[in-house]
Amino acid sequence: MAQVNDHYLKLQAGYLFPEIARRVNTFVDAHAEADVIKLGIGDVTEPLPPAIIAAMHAAVDEMGDRETFRGYGPEQGYEFLREALVDGAFAPRGVEISSEEIFISDGSKCDTGNILDIFGADNTVAVIDPVYPVYVDTNVMAGRTGSATDDGRFEGLVYLPVTAENDFVAPLPDRPVDLVYLCYPNNPTGTVASRETLTAWVEFAREHDAIILFDAAYEAYITDPEIPHSIYEIDGAREVAIEFRSFSKNAGFTGIRCACTVIPRELTGTTTSGERIDVHRLWNRRHSTKFNGVSYPVQRAAQAAYSPEGQQQVADLVRFYLDNARLLREGLEAVGITVYGGVNAPYVWLKTPGGVDSWTFFDQLLEKAHLVGTPGSGFGAAGEGYFRLSAFNSRANVEEAVRRFQQLVG
Ligand code: MLT
Repeated sequence: MAQVNDHYLKLQAGYLFPEIARRVNTFVDAHAEADVIKLGIGDVTEPLPPAIIAAMHAAVDEMGDRETFRGYGPEQGYEFLREALVDGAFAPRGVEISSEEIFISDGSKCDTGNILDIFGADNTVAVIDPVYPVYVDTNVMAGRTGSATDDGRFEGLVYLPVTAENDFVAPLPDRPVDLVYLCYPNNPTGTVASRETLTAWVEFAREHDAIILFDAAYEAYITDPEIPHSIYEIDGAREVAIEFRSFSKNAGFTGIRCACTVIPRELTGTTTSGERIDVHRLWNRRHSTKFNGVSYPVQRAAQAAYSPEGQQQVADLVRFYLDNARLLREGLEAVGITVYGGVNAPYVWLKTPGGVDSWTFFDQLLEKAHLVGTPGSGFGAAGEGYFRLSAFNSRANVEEAVRRFQQLVG
């Protein structure tokens, strides 16, 4: 008899964003005339930058010529892209990463889930609440938690609540943990971590022999020059942190798929017999066994994001979405809504008007204004009473969304 993985049954029926899409589709089926504007999932809307398109076209042409055709590439990624990341993403921040410490992949969502393959089942895991649901759900799937409690939290995970009351700065765990997920700029709150905050985390990890899983998917949105873009800007982080980077939200690759995971050579974990083991070696084994690399045209396209023209065009794209975030912030504040984030991140996190719960506000917004956002409680218990708006949309849609929002709430 084939047994299923029972741990999946602990999860709610659907992953957050498909569940929202299901509710929106039900609404649209019943109201075909409604012009629904979606500010829910953080999915880019603007076309790929020209430098990236040109590089991808050229790479496709290479694949059509016997002389330049390529079959399987290195599972870890082509050296040209790993070098482009070393020189374009890390060196300018004073971070020394070697190309062989970078693993190219098809997305940070996949990487943050897959990384659990190389960690033991008995690790204690800490997450910030509210949290990008992938971190929690993949630990549930891996059997690292108990059942869900009434507020949707899972037994066995350590939740670190962030709300307006603590300025969205996560408290350090009050007990030792083994793995901790940090995402900065933060999804969903749109807030950032100062150098002091990240230093405290690195010190915590060093003291407790923990590993930080640092998701930097939104680093391109940092506008404040004091805010670190990489965890490796913090002294001592190379021994305790893995970093995830993505081309999705900066270069517009949500549909193209390319990302990377950085595992410094100094990072070690412990075997059950107490031996120190090089984590890089394990991930290399996992990656080359279960993954065959990102396609050549996509890696060439990603490389182009770090060419001089590519960097300028990507910066323009990021600026466009940040301007959307500013319009959302200002428009909501103008009608008395309290908003957070949206300055160094493409997400605006707001207090639900009138103190209604997050899903009730979701329904009101959809039914009365034909607007879609993401209920804060969908990201965790501490997100109740909050709501997330994504700045990824056309300018016209963002302006119209602000107008409808003001009409509903004003
Ligand atoms: C989000 O809306 O939180 C993100 O788009 C999800 C993701 O990047 O997978």
